[in-house]
Amino acid sequence: MKTRKLGTLEVSEIGMGCMGFSHGYGQIPDEATSIEAILAGYEAGCTFFDTAEAYGPNLLPKNRGHNERIVGKAMKRLGVPRKDYVIATKLHLPTDEAKAKGVYQAIRDHLLASLERLEMEYADLYYLHRINPDIPVEEVAEAMGKLVGEKLILGWGLSQVPVTVIERAHNIYPVSAVQNIYSMVERDVEENVIPYCLEHGIGVVPFSPIASGLLSGKITANTEFEKNDDVRNWVPQLKKENIVGNQPIIDLLWQFAGLKEATPAQISLAWMLHKYPNVVPIPGSKNKGRILENLKASEVVLSEDEFQRLEKALSECEIHGHRGFDESEKNRFLGRR
Ligand SMILES: NC(=O)c1ccc[n+]([C@@H]2O[C@H](COP(=O)([O-])OP(=O)(O)OC[C@H]3O[C@@H](n4cnc5c(N)ncnc54)[C@H](OP(=O)(O)O)[C@@H]3O)[C@@H](O)[C@H]2O)c1
Repeated sequence: MKTRKLGTLEVSEIGMGCMGFSHGYGQIPDEATSIEAILAGYEAGCTFFDTAEAYGPNLLPKNRGHNERIVGKAMKRLGVPRKDYVIATKLHLPTDEAKAKGVYQAIRDHLLASLERLEMEYADLYYLHRINPDIPVEEVAEAMGKLVGEKLILGWGLSQVPVTVIERAHNIYPVSAVQNIYSMVERDVEENVIPYCLEHGIGVVPFSPIASGLLSGKITANTEFEKNDDVRNWVPQLKKENIVGNQPIIDLLWQFAGLKEATPAQISLAWMLHKYPNVVPIPGSKNKGRILENLKASEVVLSEDEFQRLEKALSECEIHGHRGFDESEKNRFLGRR
Protein backbone atom coordinates (compact mmCIF):
# COMPACT_ATOMS: atom_id res chain seq x y z
CA MET A 1 0.00 0.00 0.00
CA LYS A 2 1.13 3.57 -0.65
CA THR A 3 2.40 5.44 2.38
CA ARG A 4 1.96 8.93 3.79
CA LYS A 5 3.69 11.03 6.41
CA LEU A 6 2.32 12.06 9.80
CA GLY A 7 5.03 14.50 10.79
CA THR A 8 8.10 12.29 10.50
CA LEU A 9 6.24 8.98 10.85
CA GLU A 10 5.62 6.96 7.69
CA VAL A 11 2.34 5.01 7.65
CA SER A 12 0.16 3.13 5.18
CA GLU A 13 -2.23 5.65 3.65
CA ILE A 14 -5.16 3.86 5.29
CA GLY A 15 -4.82 2.69 8.87
CA MET A 16 -6.90 0.40 11.07
CA GLY A 17 -9.09 1.75 13.83
CA CYS A 18 -9.03 -1.04 16.42
CA MET A 19 -11.61 0.37 18.87
CA GLY A 20 -14.45 -1.89 17.74
CA PHE A 21 -12.64 -4.98 19.03
CA SER A 22 -13.25 -3.63 22.54
CA HIS A 23 -15.91 -0.95 22.50
CA GLY A 24 -18.36 1.13 20.56
CA TYR A 25 -20.08 -1.04 17.99
CA GLY A 26 -21.99 -3.67 19.95
CA GLN A 27 -20.96 -7.22 20.82
CA ILE A 28 -17.18 -7.54 20.69
CA PRO A 29 -15.51 -10.50 18.99
CA ASP A 30 -13.45 -12.99 20.96
CA GLU A 31 -9.78 -12.17 21.23
CA ALA A 32 -8.60 -14.76 18.70
CA THR A 33 -10.98 -13.38 16.06
CA SER A 34 -9.80 -9.81 16.72
CA ILE A 35 -6.14 -10.79 16.49
CA GLU A 36 -6.77 -12.68 13.26
CA ALA A 37 -8.47 -9.60 11.78
CA ILE A 38 -5.54 -7.36 12.74
CA LEU A 39 -3.05 -9.81 11.20
CA ALA A 40 -5.13 -9.90 8.01
CA GLY A 41 -5.01 -6.09 7.89
CA TYR A 42 -1.22 -6.16 8.13
CA GLU A 43 -1.02 -8.80 5.40
CA ALA A 44 -3.14 -6.49 3.22
CA GLY A 45 -0.57 -3.72 3.62
CA CYS A 46 -1.76 -1.83 6.68
CA THR A 47 1.08 -0.66 8.92
CA PHE A 48 -0.83 1.84 11.06
CA PHE A 49 -2.94 0.68 14.03
CA ASP A 50 -4.98 2.96 16.25
CA THR A 51 -5.85 2.13 19.84
CA ALA A 52 -6.31 3.95 23.18
CA GLU A 53 -6.03 3.22 26.89
CA ALA A 54 -9.76 3.92 27.24
CA TYR A 55 -10.94 1.32 24.72
CA GLY A 56 -12.46 -1.46 26.77
CA PRO A 57 -16.01 -2.83 27.09
CA ASN A 58 -18.42 0.01 27.96
CA LEU A 59 -15.39 2.26 28.53
CA LEU A 60 -15.40 1.12 32.16
CA PRO A 61 -12.23 2.02 34.10
CA LYS A 62 -11.82 -1.64 35.09
CA ASN A 63 -11.65 -2.53 31.38
CA ARG A 64 -9.00 0.06 30.55
CA GLY A 65 -6.36 -1.30 28.20
CA HIS A 66 -8.47 -4.17 26.81
CA ASN A 67 -7.82 -2.95 23.26
CA GLU A 68 -4.14 -2.18 23.78
CA ARG A 69 -3.62 -5.75 24.99
CA ILE A 70 -5.24 -7.14 21.84
CA VAL A 71 -3.17 -4.91 19.57
CA GLY A 72 -0.02 -5.83 21.50
CA LYS A 73 -0.72 -9.55 21.20
CA ALA A 74 -1.43 -9.22 17.49
CA MET A 75 1.86 -7.42 16.89
CA LYS A 76 3.72 -10.04 18.88
CA ARG A 77 2.12 -12.77 16.78
CA LEU A 78 3.20 -10.91 13.65
CA GLY A 79 6.78 -11.32 14.68
CA VAL A 80 8.11 -8.61 12.33
CA PRO A 81 10.67 -5.98 13.38
CA ARG A 82 9.16 -3.24 15.56
CA LYS A 83 9.99 -0.57 12.99
CA ASP A 84 7.68 -2.25 10.45
CA TYR A 85 4.47 -1.01 12.06
CA VAL A 86 3.22 2.16 13.66
CA ILE A 87 1.16 2.09 16.86
CA ALA A 88 -0.88 5.05 17.98
CA THR A 89 -2.43 5.12 21.43
CA LYS A 90 -4.08 7.84 23.53
CA LEU A 91 -4.50 9.02 27.09
CA HIS A 92 -7.04 10.97 29.10
CA LEU A 93 -5.43 13.34 31.59
CA PRO A 94 -7.54 13.93 34.73
CA THR A 95 -7.02 17.23 36.56
CA ASP A 96 -6.36 15.62 39.96
CA GLU A 97 -3.58 13.43 38.58
CA ALA A 98 -1.92 16.33 36.77
CA LYS A 99 -2.14 18.48 39.92
CA ALA A 100 -0.78 15.74 42.19
CA LYS A 101 2.12 14.54 40.05
CA GLY A 102 2.74 17.32 37.56
CA VAL A 103 1.72 17.08 33.90
CA TYR A 104 4.87 15.35 32.67
CA GLN A 105 4.87 12.65 35.35
CA ALA A 106 1.13 12.04 34.99
CA ILE A 107 1.42 11.59 31.22
CA ARG A 108 4.51 9.43 31.60
CA ASP A 109 2.72 7.13 34.06
CA HIS A 110 -0.19 6.68 31.63
CA LEU A 111 2.25 5.97 28.82
CA LEU A 112 4.22 3.37 30.77
CA ALA A 113 0.98 1.57 31.64
CA SER A 114 0.00 1.57 27.96
CA LEU A 115 3.42 0.28 26.91
CA GLU A 116 3.19 -2.52 29.44
CA ARG A 117 -0.19 -3.58 28.02
CA LEU A 118 1.08 -3.25 24.45
CA GLU A 119 4.26 -5.14 25.45
CA MET A 120 6.29 -2.53 23.60
CA GLU A 121 9.21 -0.29 24.47
CA TYR A 122 7.80 2.75 22.75
CA ALA A 123 4.62 4.02 21.10
CA ASP A 124 5.06 5.63 17.71
CA LEU A 125 2.32 8.18 18.24
CA TYR A 126 0.82 9.30 21.56
CA TYR A 127 -2.32 11.40 21.50
CA LEU A 128 -4.03 13.42 24.16
CA HIS A 129 -7.51 11.93 23.68
CA ARG A 130 -9.32 15.09 24.79
CA ILE A 131 -8.01 18.47 25.85
CA ASN A 132 -8.43 19.17 29.56
CA PRO A 133 -9.33 22.86 29.96
CA ASP A 134 -7.70 22.84 33.44
CA ILE A 135 -4.32 21.98 31.90
CA PRO A 136 -2.66 24.31 29.40
CA VAL A 137 -1.91 22.43 26.19
CA GLU A 138 1.54 24.05 26.24
CA GLU A 139 2.40 21.97 29.33
CA VAL A 140 1.22 18.84 27.54
CA ALA A 141 3.34 19.70 24.48
CA GLU A 142 6.39 20.22 26.66
CA ALA A 143 5.86 16.88 28.39
CA MET A 144 5.38 15.10 25.07
CA GLY A 145 8.64 16.65 23.82
CA LYS A 146 10.43 15.20 26.85
CA LEU A 147 8.95 11.77 26.18
CA VAL A 148 10.23 11.93 22.60
CA GLY A 149 13.64 12.81 24.07
CA GLU A 150 13.44 9.68 26.22
CA LYS A 151 12.52 7.62 23.11
CA LEU A 152 9.32 6.45 24.81
CA ILE A 153 7.31 7.93 21.94
CA LEU A 154 8.31 8.96 18.41
CA GLY A 155 5.68 11.64 17.97
CA TRP A 156 2.53 13.04 19.55
CA GLY A 157 -0.88 14.31 18.67
CA LEU A 158 -4.19 15.82 19.73
CA SER A 159 -7.78 14.67 19.22
CA GLN A 160 -11.02 16.61 18.62
CA VAL A 161 -9.31 19.98 18.76
CA PRO A 162 -9.76 23.31 16.99
CA VAL A 163 -6.92 24.98 15.12
CA THR A 164 -6.20 27.44 17.96
CA VAL A 165 -5.23 24.55 20.25
CA ILE A 166 -3.14 22.88 17.54
CA GLU A 167 -1.27 26.12 16.94
CA ARG A 168 -0.52 26.69 20.64
CA ALA A 169 0.76 23.13 20.99
CA HIS A 170 2.75 23.08 17.77
CA ASN A 171 4.56 26.27 18.79
CA ILE A 172 5.96 24.47 21.85
CA TYR A 173 6.76 21.06 20.37
CA PRO A 174 5.94 19.87 16.82
CA VAL A 175 2.67 17.97 16.58
CA SER A 176 2.82 14.85 14.35
CA ALA A 177 -0.89 14.30 13.84
CA VAL A 178 -4.35 15.57 14.69
CA GLN A 179 -7.11 12.97 15.05
CA ASN A 180 -10.48 14.63 14.53
CA ILE A 181 -13.77 13.35 13.22
CA TYR A 182 -13.93 13.71 9.43
CA SER A 183 -16.07 12.15 6.75
CA MET A 184 -18.30 13.21 3.87
CA VAL A 185 -20.94 14.11 6.46
CA GLU A 186 -18.64 15.80 9.04
CA ARG A 187 -16.55 18.32 7.16
CA ASP A 188 -15.78 21.06 9.70
CA VAL A 189 -12.03 20.27 9.65
CA GLU A 190 -11.86 21.38 6.02
CA GLU A 191 -12.33 24.97 7.11
CA ASN A 192 -9.07 25.59 8.94
CA VAL A 193 -7.75 22.47 10.72
CA ILE A 194 -6.65 20.66 7.55
CA PRO A 195 -5.25 23.80 5.87
CA TYR A 196 -3.21 24.64 9.00
CA CYS A 197 -1.93 21.06 9.27
CA LEU A 198 -1.03 20.98 5.57
CA GLU A 199 0.94 24.18 5.91
CA HIS A 200 2.81 22.96 9.00
CA GLY A 201 3.59 19.36 8.01
CA ILE A 202 1.09 17.84 10.45
CA GLY A 203 -0.85 14.71 9.51
CA VAL A 204 -4.63 14.54 9.86
CA VAL A 205 -6.07 11.19 10.97
CA PRO A 206 -9.84 11.17 10.44
CA PHE A 207 -11.76 9.01 12.85
CA SER A 208 -15.20 7.66 11.94
CA PRO A 209 -14.35 8.24 8.25
CA ILE A 210 -17.27 6.04 7.17
CA ALA A 211 -19.57 7.95 9.54
CA SER A 212 -19.95 4.93 11.83
CA GLY A 213 -21.00 2.78 8.88
CA LEU A 214 -23.52 5.18 7.31
CA LEU A 215 -21.36 5.77 4.22
CA SER A 216 -21.11 2.04 3.53
CA GLY A 217 -24.68 2.24 2.26
CA LYS A 218 -25.56 -0.79 4.39
CA ILE A 219 -27.49 1.11 7.06
CA THR A 220 -31.13 2.11 6.58
CA ALA A 221 -33.63 3.93 8.77
CA ASN A 222 -34.91 0.49 9.80
CA THR A 223 -31.54 -0.75 11.03
CA GLU A 224 -31.71 -1.55 14.75
CA PHE A 225 -28.49 -1.14 16.70
CA GLU A 226 -27.56 -3.24 19.69
CA LYS A 227 -28.33 -1.63 23.02
CA ASN A 228 -25.02 -2.85 24.46
CA ASP A 229 -22.10 -0.41 24.16
CA ASP A 230 -23.03 0.75 20.68
CA VAL A 231 -22.34 4.42 19.91
CA ARG A 232 -24.65 4.23 16.91
CA ASN A 233 -27.52 4.75 19.34
CA TRP A 234 -26.41 8.39 19.76
CA VAL A 235 -24.16 9.25 16.78
CA PRO A 236 -26.12 12.17 15.23
CA GLN A 237 -26.02 10.96 11.61
CA LEU A 238 -27.52 7.65 12.61
CA LYS A 239 -30.73 9.08 14.04
CA LYS A 240 -33.48 7.77 11.79
CA GLU A 241 -34.40 11.19 10.37
CA ASN A 242 -30.77 11.91 9.52
CA ILE A 243 -30.28 8.53 7.83
CA VAL A 244 -33.23 9.44 5.63
CA GLY A 245 -32.02 13.04 5.14
CA ASN A 246 -28.54 11.92 4.10
CA GLN A 247 -29.83 9.40 1.55
CA PRO A 248 -28.82 11.61 -1.44
CA ILE A 249 -25.18 11.27 -0.30
CA ILE A 250 -25.52 7.49 -0.09
CA ASP A 251 -27.11 7.47 -3.57
CA LEU A 252 -24.18 9.49 -4.87
CA LEU A 253 -21.74 7.00 -3.34
CA TRP A 254 -23.58 4.08 -4.95
CA GLN A 255 -23.45 5.89 -8.30
CA PHE A 256 -19.66 6.33 -8.10
CA ALA A 257 -19.24 2.83 -6.70
CA GLY A 258 -20.88 1.48 -9.85
CA LEU A 259 -18.66 3.64 -12.03
CA LYS A 260 -15.43 2.59 -10.30
CA GLU A 261 -16.35 -1.03 -9.53
CA ALA A 262 -15.90 -0.22 -5.88
CA THR A 263 -18.07 -0.03 -2.76
CA PRO A 264 -19.59 3.13 -1.23
CA ALA A 265 -17.24 2.89 1.77
CA GLN A 266 -14.25 2.70 -0.59
CA ILE A 267 -15.44 5.72 -2.57
CA SER A 268 -15.82 7.77 0.61
CA LEU A 269 -12.24 6.92 1.61
CA ALA A 270 -10.85 7.46 -1.91
CA TRP A 271 -12.50 10.90 -1.90
CA MET A 272 -10.60 12.13 1.16
CA LEU A 273 -7.34 10.52 0.03
CA HIS A 274 -7.62 12.38 -3.26
CA LYS A 275 -8.59 15.62 -1.62
CA TYR A 276 -5.67 16.00 0.83
CA PRO A 277 -2.17 14.52 0.78
CA ASN A 278 -1.77 14.67 4.57
CA VAL A 279 -4.95 12.74 5.43
CA VAL A 280 -4.70 9.12 6.69
CA PRO A 281 -8.14 7.71 7.53
CA ILE A 282 -8.52 4.93 10.11
CA PRO A 283 -11.80 3.15 9.32
CA GLY A 284 -12.92 0.81 12.07
CA SER A 285 -14.48 -2.62 11.75
CA LYS A 286 -14.65 -5.84 13.77
CA ASN A 287 -15.17 -7.79 10.60
CA LYS A 288 -12.18 -9.09 8.62
CA GLY A 289 -13.97 -8.84 5.26
CA ARG A 290 -14.86 -5.18 5.82
CA ILE A 291 -11.39 -4.38 7.10
CA LEU A 292 -9.95 -5.72 3.84
CA GLU A 293 -12.61 -3.89 1.83
CA ASN A 294 -11.73 -0.60 3.51
CA LEU A 295 -7.97 -1.08 3.07
CA LYS A 296 -8.51 -1.81 -0.62
CA ALA A 297 -9.86 1.73 -1.01
CA SER A 298 -6.19 2.57 -1.49
CA GLU A 299 -6.50 0.97 -4.95
CA VAL A 300 -9.58 3.01 -5.87
CA VAL A 301 -8.00 6.05 -7.44
CA LEU A 302 -10.28 8.85 -8.57
CA SER A 303 -9.23 10.90 -11.58
CA GLU A 304 -9.26 14.66 -11.09
CA ASP A 305 -12.39 14.86 -13.22
CA GLU A 306 -14.16 12.16 -11.19
CA PHE A 307 -13.16 13.83 -7.97
CA GLN A 308 -14.45 17.23 -9.13
CA ARG A 309 -17.79 15.73 -10.18
CA LEU A 310 -18.13 13.95 -6.85
CA GLU A 311 -17.09 17.02 -4.89
CA LYS A 312 -19.56 19.26 -6.74
CA ALA A 313 -22.44 16.82 -6.29
CA LEU A 314 -21.56 16.44 -2.60
CA SER A 315 -21.46 20.18 -2.06
CA GLU A 316 -25.02 20.35 -3.40
CA CYS A 317 -26.27 17.87 -0.77
CA GLU A 318 -27.58 19.13 2.53
CA ILE A 319 -25.92 17.33 5.43
CA HIS A 320 -28.13 16.09 8.27
CA GLY A 321 -26.79 15.48 11.77
CA HIS A 322 -23.67 17.16 13.07
CA ARG A 323 -21.25 16.48 15.88
CA GLY A 324 -18.35 18.84 15.23
CA PHE A 325 -14.88 18.39 16.69
CA ASP A 326 -14.39 20.97 19.42
CA GLU A 327 -14.59 18.73 22.49
CA SER A 328 -12.77 18.53 25.81
CA GLU A 329 -12.70 16.51 29.04
CA LYS A 330 -15.43 18.87 30.31
CA ASN A 331 -17.36 18.77 27.07
CA ARG A 332 -17.18 15.16 25.92
CA PHE A 333 -19.66 14.06 23.34
CA LEU A 334 -20.33 10.67 24.85
CA GLY A 335 -23.92 10.60 26.04
CA ARG A 336 -24.88 13.98 24.59
CA ARG A 337 -27.40 14.05 21.77
N1 LIG B 1 -10.09 10.14 18.77
C1 LIG B 1 -11.33 9.83 19.06
O1 LIG B 1 -11.98 10.47 19.88
C2 LIG B 1 -11.96 8.65 18.37
C3 LIG B 1 -13.36 8.47 18.40
C4 LIG B 1 -13.89 7.36 17.74
C5 LIG B 1 -13.06 6.48 17.06
N2 LIG B 1 -11.71 6.67 17.08
C6 LIG B 1 -10.79 5.76 16.35
O2 LIG B 1 -11.14 5.81 14.98
C7 LIG B 1 -11.41 4.50 14.50
C8 LIG B 1 -12.47 4.58 13.44
O3 LIG B 1 -13.66 5.15 13.96
P1 LIG B 1 -15.03 4.38 13.77
O4 LIG B 1 -14.83 2.96 14.19
O5 LIG B 1 -16.10 5.19 14.36
O6 LIG B 1 -15.07 4.43 12.13
P2 LIG B 1 -16.07 4.03 11.01
O7 LIG B 1 -15.33 3.07 10.14
O8 LIG B 1 -16.61 5.28 10.41
O9 LIG B 1 -17.28 3.29 11.72
C9 LIG B 1 -17.22 1.96 12.19
C10 LIG B 1 -18.58 1.33 12.00
O10 LIG B 1 -18.83 1.27 10.60
C11 LIG B 1 -18.99 -0.08 10.20
N3 LIG B 1 -18.23 -0.26 8.95
C12 LIG B 1 -16.93 0.08 8.74
N4 LIG B 1 -16.57 -0.24 7.48
C13 LIG B 1 -17.66 -0.78 6.90
C14 LIG B 1 -17.93 -1.30 5.61
N5 LIG B 1 -16.98 -1.32 4.68
N6 LIG B 1 -19.17 -1.78 5.35
C15 LIG B 1 -20.12 -1.76 6.31
N7 LIG B 1 -19.93 -1.28 7.55
C16 LIG B 1 -18.71 -0.80 7.85
C17 LIG B 1 -18.45 -0.93 11.31
O11 LIG B 1 -19.20 -2.12 11.37
P3 LIG B 1 -18.54 -3.55 11.71
O12 LIG B 1 -17.59 -3.38 12.85
O13 LIG B 1 -19.72 -4.38 12.06
O14 LIG B 1 -17.87 -4.01 10.45
C18 LIG B 1 -18.70 -0.07 12.53
O15 LIG B 1 -20.03 -0.26 12.98
C19 LIG B 1 -11.81 3.72 15.75
O16 LIG B 1 -11.63 2.32 15.58
C20 LIG B 1 -10.87 4.30 16.78
O17 LIG B 1 -9.60 3.69 16.69
C21 LIG B 1 -11.16 7.75 17.71
